[in-house]
Amino acid sequence: MKSRIFITRKLPEHMLDPFHENYQVKMWEKEDQSVPHDILLKEAQEAEGLLTMLSDQIDAELFAKAPKLKVISNLAVGFDNIDIEEAKKYGVVVTNTPDVLTETTADLGFSLLMAAARRITEAADYIKQDHWQGWEPYLLAGMDIHHKTIGIVGMGRIGESIARRAKGFGMDILYHNRSRKPDVEKELNASYVSFDELLETSDFVMNVVPLTEETKNLFNRQAFEKMKRTAIFVNISRGGTVVEEDLVEALKTEQIKGAGLDVFREEPIGKDHPLLKLKNAVCLPHIGSASVETRTAMISLCLDNLNGVIKGTGAKTPV
Ligand code: NAP
Ligand code: GLV
Ligand code: GLV
Repeated sequence: MKSRIFITRKLPEHMLDPFHENYQVKMWEKEDQSVPHDILLKEAQEAEGLLTMLSDQIDAELFAKAPKLKVISNLAVGFDNIDIEEAKKYGVVVTNTPDVLTETTADLGFSLLMAAARRITEAADYIKQDHWQGWEPYLLAGMDIHHKTIGIVGMGRIGESIARRAKGFGMDILYHNRSRKPDVEKELNASYVSFDELLETSDFVMNVVPLTEETKNLFNRQAFEKMKRTAIFVNISRGGTVVEEDLVEALKTEQIKGAGLDVFREEPIGKDHPLLKLKNAVCLPHIGSASVETRTAMISLCLDNLNGVIKGTGAKTPV
C-alpha cells in the first residue's frame, strides 16, 4: 500500500508529480485559507506524513490521534506552531526549512527597516491620495539609515545576513543572543551587548529571535520605554514576542519613532487592527520569505524531508 501524505495547503501540482508513484497524496484545496483543525485531525489519522504551514497548530491531540504519523514537515524555519515535546513522545520527526530562506528573509527585514525609516509606504500613499503640491524642504522627511546603530536581537542565520547588509550601509552593529559569536564579532565588527544595552543604544532594533517560552512577550512596555525616542522597531520574528497593546501605545505616544512589522500575534489582522491606524507603523502580511524562488525551494525541501523520513533515508533538516 502507498504511504499517505496530507498537505495542508494547495501547492503547485507539478511539484508533486514525482510523488504520485509512491504516495497517496492529498492536499487541502484552498490556497488562501488554512485547513480547519477538525479536518486536519481527521486527515492526520491515516497519514504517515504531514506537510504543514506555520498557521497550522500541531498539538498533543493531533499526535494522540495519528498512530501512523512519522513526520511533520513544516514549510517555515520557525516551528513554534508545533508541540515539539509531544512529537518526541510519539517518535514523530519534525523538520523545518532553514538556510534556503535566510537571504530572502534578510532582504525583507532590511526593506522594512528602510521603509519605516524613510516613510516609504506613507509617501507612496501620499502621492496616490493626490496630496502632492510640490517639492518642500521637509516633505516626508524621515531618518537616516547609513552610519546609524542597528541592534539585532537573535543573531542567528537571518540575523547575520541582516548584519551583512547593515555593514554595507556603514552601520554600527550590536547584537544580543544567549551565547556570543566570536566569528561574527570579528567578521562584521559586531558587539555583543545585554538586551537592555541594545535597547538603550540602538537606532534600529531588529527582532529576529524564534518564539519560545523565553522570548514570549519580550518586547513589552518596559522594553519600549528603554528604547530611544528616535528608535525604529522592526519585527520579522513572530508576533508572540511582542505585547501589541504596548507597541501601539509606544507608537501613539511617540515613545519610539516608528515600527516595521511583518508578523502579528493573531494572523491575519484585519483593517481595523490598531496598528493599521498608525502612520508610523509599516505593516506587511508575513511575507518574509516570499520570493517565488525561495518559496519554491522551501516546498522542495519540505517534500525531500517528508520522503526521506518515510523512506528511511532520513531528513535533510530535522529540528
Ligand atoms: P536561528 O539561526 O536559529 O537564529 C535564532 C537566533 O536567536 C540564535 O542566534 C539564538 O542564539 C537566538 N536566540 C534564541 N533564543 C533566544 C533568547 N531567548 N534570547 C536571545 N536570543 C535568542 O534562526 P533563523 O533561521 O535566523 O530564524 C529566526 C526566526 O525568524 C525563526 O524562528 C522565525 O520565527 C523567524 N522567521 C520569520 C520569517 C518571516 O517571514 N517573517 C521568515 C523566516 C524566519 P542563542 O541560541 O545563542 O540564544
Ligand atoms: C516564516 O515565518 C518562517 O519561520 O519560515
Ligand atoms: C534632490 O533631488 C537634489 O537634487 O538634491
